[in-house]
Amino acid sequence: MKPVYIGLLGLGTVGGGTARVLSNNAAEIARRAGREIKLLHAAARGLKGQIPQGAEQATITEDGFEVVNNPDVDIVVELIGGDSPARELVLQAIENGKHVVTANKALIAKHGNEIFAAAQKKGVVVAFEAAVAGGIPIIKAIREGLSANHINWIAGIINGTGNFILTEMRDKGRDFDDVLKEAQQLGYAEADPTFDVEGIDAAHKLCILSSIAFGVPLQFDKVYTEGISKISQDDVTFAAQLGYRIKHLGITRVTEQGIEMRVHPTLIPEKRLIANVDGVMNAVLILADKLGPSLYYGAGAGADPTASAVVADIVDVTRSLTTDPDNRVPHLAFQPGQINDTPVLSMDEVETAYYLRMKAQDKPGVMADITRIMGEGGISIEAILQKEPAQDDAVATIILLTQRIKEAQMNRAIAAIQQLDSISSEVTRIRVESLAAD
Ligand code: HSE
Repeated sequence: MKPVYIGLLGLGTVGGGTARVLSNNAAEIARRAGREIKLLHAAARGLKGQIPQGAEQATITEDGFEVVNNPDVDIVVELIGGDSPARELVLQAIENGKHVVTANKALIAKHGNEIFAAAQKKGVVVAFEAAVAGGIPIIKAIREGLSANHINWIAGIINGTGNFILTEMRDKGRDFDDVLKEAQQLGYAEADPTFDVEGIDAAHKLCILSSIAFGVPLQFDKVYTEGISKISQDDVTFAAQLGYRIKHLGITRVTEQGIEMRVHPTLIPEKRLIANVDGVMNAVLILADKLGPSLYYGAGAGADPTASAVVADIVDVTRSLTTDPDNRVPHLAFQPGQINDTPVLSMDEVETAYYLRMKAQDKPGVMADITRIMGEGGISIEAILQKEPAQDDAVATIILLTQRIKEAQMNRAIAAIQQLDSISSEVTRIRVESLAAD
C-alpha cells in the first residue's frame, strides 16, 4: 500500500522531535498504522542548513502554504504554534481536503469552533492530542475511554513550566526568575513565558478539556485565569505547615448552575497523589460518575514526549483514512448536533475554600475583628495560624483557612478586612480544593 505522506509545518522543538520519532520508530509505527508513514514536505524558517534528523529526505521550504497546497500530502501536521499563520494554514489544509494534526493549544482554544466546523463540512479530521498535557493521552482518555460516564470535574497540573517553578521554590528555595530561565533552556517554556507563569497556557488547555468533558463549545474567553507570579516563599512554607501543597491547577466542574472554568494556584492536601506530581511533569485528575476518580500522569512538555502524542494522532488519522466521516470520533467528543449551551459561571459564582494570609499589628482585638467580619459574611473558619512577630517587630502574620463559600462573599470579607486599621498588608488569597472523590 502507498505510504501516507506527511506535510510538516515547523521544525522547532516539537517539529524536530516529530521528524525524529517518525524516523527512529518508523518500523514499529508502520506495524501499528498498517502503512508506512513518510515525511514528504516540511516548512521551517531560519534552519541555516541544520536539517533535523528524520527530515533529510523531505523537501524543505520556508513557505507553509507550499506544504498545505502540495497535492501529494495526505496529513498536514501543524507545529508552528500561535494564532497566525497557523489558523490560515490549517483552514487552507482543510479546504484542500487534508487531515490535520496539531499541537497548538492556543489555536484550538481560540479558533477550534471555526476549525472543527470547517473540518466537519469537508469530512476531514483535525486531531489535537498533543495540545493538552503534552505526551499524556488525555484527549483520548476523555473522548473515548470515559464515554460511558458523566464527568463531574477535572483538575489538572497542565503547565510543566509552572509546576517546575513551584517545585523548585518549595524543595530548594530557589528564586522564581532563575528557575524560569532553566525551564526556557530546557525547551519547556512558551515563546512568551508570561503564557506559562500567568496561566494563559493552562487556560488554553483547560478550555479544551472542559469542552470535551461536558460537550460545550470552546470558550477560552470565559476561563478565569490567575498565574503563579504572586506566590511567595512564605505561602509555600505556610501551606506545608498546614498539610498542603500549592499547585497551579486548571479546574473545570459542572454544577447545577453551570460550568466552572478556572486556572489558579491552589492549596491541595499533601496526601493526594496529584499533590506529589513534581518538576515538569503534568497530571490530570478526573472524577467521573461510573469510573470514580482516575489520574493520568506523564511528561507535559519536551520534544520527544510531545512528539509521541503527535505521532499517535498521525497513526489514528492514518487508520481512519478509509472510514466513513460520520463514524469517526467527534472532535469535541459529543456529536456536533449535541453540543449544548450550558452557561459558564463567573468567578463570583464559584464556590471554593480559601487560604488567607495577612500582616496585622500585634495588639489585642485584631483577631476578634477578623473573625467578626468572617462571621458576618457567613464564612466558617477551618484553621488559624499566627506567626509571632520577629524581635522588635510589632507585626504578626495571620493565616486563615476557611470552609467553602461563594467567591463573591469572600471578596466582600477580604475588602472589609483590608479596611481595618490594624491590617498592614494586602490580604493574599489562595483557593483551596480538597479534590476528594465525594
Ligand atoms: N509551556 C508548556 C508547559 C509546554 O510548560 O507545559 C507544553 O504545552
